[in-house]
Amino acid sequence: MTTMTTKPGQPGTNQHQAGLIEPHGGKLVCRVASGARRDELIAEAAKLPRVDLTAKQSCDVEMIGTGAFSPLTGFMGKADFDSVVSDMKLANGNIWPIPITLSINKADAPKVGARIALHAPNGTLQAVMTVEEVYAHDRAKEATIFFGGAEDDGKHPGAEAVKAEGDTCLAGQIEVVTVCVDPDGPEAFLDHRLTPAQTRAEFAKRGWKTVSAFQTRNPIHRAHEYLCKCAQEITDGLLVHPLVGETKPGDIPADVRMECYQTLLDAYFVPERTMLTVMPAAMRYAGPREAVLHAIVRKNYGVTHFIVGRDHAGVGSYYGTYDAQNIFEQLDKNNLRIEPLKFEHAAFSKKAQGMVSGKTFPKLEGDQIFLSGTKVRDMLAAGERPPGEFTRPEVADILIKWATKA
Ligand code: ADX
Repeated sequence: MTTMTTKPGQPGTNQHQAGLIEPHGGKLVCRVASGARRDELIAEAAKLPRVDLTAKQSCDVEMIGTGAFSPLTGFMGKADFDSVVSDMKLANGNIWPIPITLSINKADAPKVGARIALHAPNGTLQAVMTVEEVYAHDRAKEATIFFGGAEDDGKHPGAEAVKAEGDTCLAGQIEVVTVCVDPDGPEAFLDHRLTPAQTRAEFAKRGWKTVSAFQTRNPIHRAHEYLCKCAQEITDGLLVHPLVGETKPGDIPADVRMECYQTLLDAYFVPERTMLTVMPAAMRYAGPREAVLHAIVRKNYGVTHFIVGRDHAGVGSYYGTYDAQNIFEQLDKNNLRIEPLKFEHAAFSKKAQGMVSGKTFPKLEGDQIFLSGTKVRDMLAAGERPPGEFTRPEVADILIKWATKA
């Protein structure tokens, strides 16, 4: 069994299950307070200066609290920020590709040593933090992580979000009092919101020694399904692990996607070999760097193999099709440990009558069924099912219901 040894007010250490992959940095962090300590924090917070979190920061608090961002125990200080941006490493040497910062406006910045109450966008008290460091937020420097070789055209959603953030960062360990800030909301998914300790315990219970994970922010179409099925052939189990934190306008809402996933899994997957749980992180659209973050997070959830397909976590045309796979070649495998499962662009071939990629079937003129995102959106809005070679009819029906209601 996974055991919780968290002492109030101290970083938690969940012993990882013998045989399962070690969490990043060696120990699964738990910064969630419970019992009397939680009551104490709630009482204290009522008297503390209040910081209102953005949606992204609120997601980050949950990810830190549950250990999904192990070894982070709080928001990053300047040494980590600089090292992450320049070298994709924390100051202590562990691979880490994206800064996790709590930025606010300088005028509102508390002093070092202050205790502050962090509130979610809906007003819920989420965590209490001790400010260990206050430093200037180099937003221009952080924005560079979104551009491999591409030009900053002022339109990248992740980079623009960073540029609009506060000019000052607060660093410090957090203690979380509320894990899911909107438990009655449509995107709480409480039955599926398993923490890393809980997925690890479930893998152990199922006897899974190797587990692949599939990250997605879209409804699962046939190419996604193909990747999942290939992974299932080589690992004991598959964790379908959609990102359900903040996404950009235009992405399909998480509750609609969850209905698609559940329906698809019920009809086309083997329950004993498949799990569906959610990852409450915000999407950053940082392509290759985000692929690395996604892999590290899945390792914390106990996953051994992480699926990386074409243009993972990409947006627009900022990244090369396989940049998010190639970046893993630069990383120290002994520190990363989780295995990327790299897939070429997959699509349905009319000639082969099945899903293929450039690795498995020759490219024939006009053979593969490819539909652009715009074309699919137009079809759904017109109440028309995209072909079964592109998406399963059960999934198409849910999307049509959603697209024609809006
Ligand atoms: S992502 O932002 O979460 O990466 P998406 O949900 O579209 O976006 O993709 C989920 C995963 O499937 C990613 O690893 C992505 O690279 C992969 N993928 C999506 N479409 C294809 C495809 N046609 N062929 C191969 N891999 C794909």
